[in-house]
Amino acid sequence: MTQETALLPTSPVAGDDHVPLRKVFVKTYGCQMNVYDSDRMSDALARDGYVATDAVEDADFVLLNTCHIREKAAEKVYSELGRLRELKKARASEGREMVIGVAGCVAQAEGDEILRRAPAVDLVIGPQTYHRLPEALKRARRGERVVETDYAIEDKFEHLPAPDRAKTRARGVTAFLTVQEGCDKFCTFCVVPYTRGAEVSRPVAQILAEAEKLVEGGVREITLLGQNVNAWHGTGPDGRDCGLGDLLRHLGEIDGLARLRYTTSHPRDMDDSLIEAHRSMAKLMPYLHLPVQSGSDRILKAMNRRHTAAEYLALIDRIRAAQPDLALSGDFIVGFPGETEEDFEDTMRLVESVGYAQAFSFKYSSRPGTPGAELTGQVAEDVKAKRLERLLNLLTRQQREFAASCVGREIDVLLEKPGRLAGQLVGRSPWLQPVNIDAKQSQIGDIIRVRITKAGPNSLFAEMVG
Ligand code: 5AD
Ligand code: SF4
Repeated sequence: MTQETALLPTSPVAGDDHVPLRKVFVKTYGCQMNVYDSDRMSDALARDGYVATDAVEDADFVLLNTCHIREKAAEKVYSELGRLRELKKARASEGREMVIGVAGCVAQAEGDEILRRAPAVDLVIGPQTYHRLPEALKRARRGERVVETDYAIEDKFEHLPAPDRAKTRARGVTAFLTVQEGCDKFCTFCVVPYTRGAEVSRPVAQILAEAEKLVEGGVREITLLGQNVNAWHGTGPDGRDCGLGDLLRHLGEIDGLARLRYTTSHPRDMDDSLIEAHRSMAKLMPYLHLPVQSGSDRILKAMNRRHTAAEYLALIDRIRAAQPDLALSGDFIVGFPGETEEDFEDTMRLVESVGYAQAFSFKYSSRPGTPGAELTGQVAEDVKAKRLERLLNLLTRQQREFAASCVGREIDVLLEKPGRLAGQLVGRSPWLQPVNIDAKQSQIGDIIRVRITKAGPNSLFAEMVG
């Protein structure tokens, strides 16, 4: 460092000398892909001198990264926009600007309808055009009401900044990396094929370069993301077609990268090469999120899942044969149109026979534009609520049983962040459970051997061994 640069202020400065420092507040709803996207958008804005703030009232730009998967998720956004309208007025009365932007799946699905329903919104941007956000924001600041929801022809990942080393460090030792986006499966309940578009895989070299950058920034564990992550496909360095199993093997060669995960998978795309990766790759964590949605063949067919309950169970047997330590997680929908008590009992039976370590269950929510919304036999809300409660009870019991089965085991834990008590850290088990342990701050990022001593409702407790 030269004398001159050492004299510069240490606080962050805008990329352009003429642009004063501005603050952005990003609120993320929904899935992990939105978390990843929010970070990428923040990184893109940082190049224009925007720094992140946790205080919405201080923000010059408020960006909601939204989710459209169920009605409740979408409605939350509009109530938040109502609150922001008041804040924007209050700031305007002090002569300060507040630009309000909506990104994510609500933006893609509803487009300029949002501008009509929420007059305080200045900017609507869909997931395929995030690389255009800095430019769109400039236009919005000049008074234009901007809607960017076209599917861009250019590759947004080429234009978004790669993760920055300092920011990666601040974000911690685990990271998400989107490798695939969109979905061609068209399950009849789901908006994703409409909001995120057709299935697209990022090229191998781009993914490897991003993973290496993350590892340089101190990341030890990467979770590959995609709406249908196991449909990812590309061309390997040898010029041959490859699938997710091969991609994981390439990533496994990065020094310093200790753990790999991927989510979300479709049962139809669990191929032999991926199952083999679970057998042979120690870095690939023995945990799999494999949604089935229902245990009834009739309902699976109506959902266009294109497999039966028996096929799902047989697949799980094959994966467990390759990796006996595998813990499973799933998604379930109760009250899909036409679901009878008997269909629901089939779901309960399937859950009993699989035994999930974790699961997410939802009441069916009719989404405009999906085939499910047109079906007759919509199930009454109180019936859905009762079924959901029964399913949740069973899944919670299974989750507790799984946690209890960990007590007494010796396992590896990746130390992630400070715990609630002084002198404690929180780490992750191979099965994604938070683990509380006495350890020093300087050990964050280490993988240590521990013995599980106790299982709490949402986390495990452990002591170091050796
Ligand atoms: N209603 C309820 N749940 C849904 N999901 C997707 N669409 C709907 C819907 N219309 C659930 C599925 C999916 C998860 C991400 O959200 O279980 O796997
Ligand atoms: Fe939606 Fe089905 Fe695609 Fe998953 S596989 S994103 S549930 S359409």
